[in-house]
Amino acid sequence: MAIQIKNLDQLKVMRRAGLLVGQTLQLLRENIKAGMTTDALDAIAAANIKRGGGTSNFLGYHGYPKTICVSINEEIVHGIPGPRIINEGDVVSIDCGAIIDGWHGDAAFSIGIGAVDPQDQKLMDVCEESMWVGIAAGKNGGKLSDIGNAIEKYINSQGSYGILQEYGGHGIGTEMHQEPHVLNFGKAGNGPEIIPGMALAIEPMITRGTHKTKVLADEWTVVSTDKSRGAHFENSYVICPDGKPFVLTSIDGGKAELARFGVEISDLLQ
Ligand code: MF3
Ligand code: CO
Repeated sequence: MAIQIKNLDQLKVMRRAGLLVGQTLQLLRENIKAGMTTDALDAIAAANIKRGGGTSNFLGYHGYPKTICVSINEEIVHGIPGPRIINEGDVVSIDCGAIIDGWHGDAAFSIGIGAVDPQDQKLMDVCEESMWVGIAAGKNGGKLSDIGNAIEKYINSQGSYGILQEYGGHGIGTEMHQEPHVLNFGKAGNGPEIIPGMALAIEPMITRGTHKTKVLADEWTVVSTDKSRGAHFENSYVICPDGKPFVLTSIDGGKAELARFGVEISDLLQ
C-alpha cells in the first residue's frame, strides 16, 4: 500500500477528528488526579468523543476493549483501563484516538501525578520535546528518516534514555495505522520524500533505562524489561498543500511549539 495523500477537503475533516482528540486529551489532563481509577479516565474520554460527534478508533481495534490506553510507570504504552487506582508520584501516559466521517486522529501525552521525582519529570520533558523536534524536522521536501534522526539525536543529547525500537509512529488517514512506519531513531536522508498531503503520527516512547520491552499476559500492556519508567507523547501532523505543516491534534495547530523552531504553520486549516 502506498502512502495515502490527502487533499485539502479531506484534511479539513481530519482536522475535526484531530481537534476532538486534542480536546479530549486536554479534558483528561484537567481531570486526572490521585485516587481515581483508570476506568474513570476511559469513561471521560468515551463521553467526550461521543459528545463531539466522533467514534473511538481504539475500541475494537484488534479486539482492544477500551477507548483509551492508560500506561502507568514501567508500563510505556497500550495499558488497558480498569479498576487500578492512580497514585501520587505515578507517571501516567494516556493515548487516545477518534474518527470523524471516516478520518482518524491519534495523540498521546504523559503526566506526573502530584509531586513527581525530578528524574521522571525530565523523562517526560525530554520525550515531549523530542516529539516537537521530530515534527519540526519532518519538513516538506525532506526525507522520512530525518524525523527519527532528529528525535534520537535530541534524546541522546539530554541523557541516557532507552528509545523503544519495536514501536514507532505511522501514517494516518482513513485508517489509524497506515504506511509509512516512522522510526524514532536512525540516519537522516533515507526513505520516502515528505510531500504535501502526507499525514504522520509522531510518537517517541522512551524509558529511564532499557529500550527493551515485553508485553504482559493481558496481550496489550507494553512494559520495560528492567521496570524503568517510560514516557510517550504523540501528535498527528500533516504537510498542507502550501508545503507548511499543521498539527492536527494540537488545539492551536502546533503554532506556538513549532514557532520555537522557526517553523511557521499553514493557514489552510485554521
Ligand atoms: N494509538 C496507538 C498508536 O499510537 C495505538 C493504540 S492501539 C489500541 O499507534 F489498540 F490500543 F488502540
Ligand atoms: Co499512534
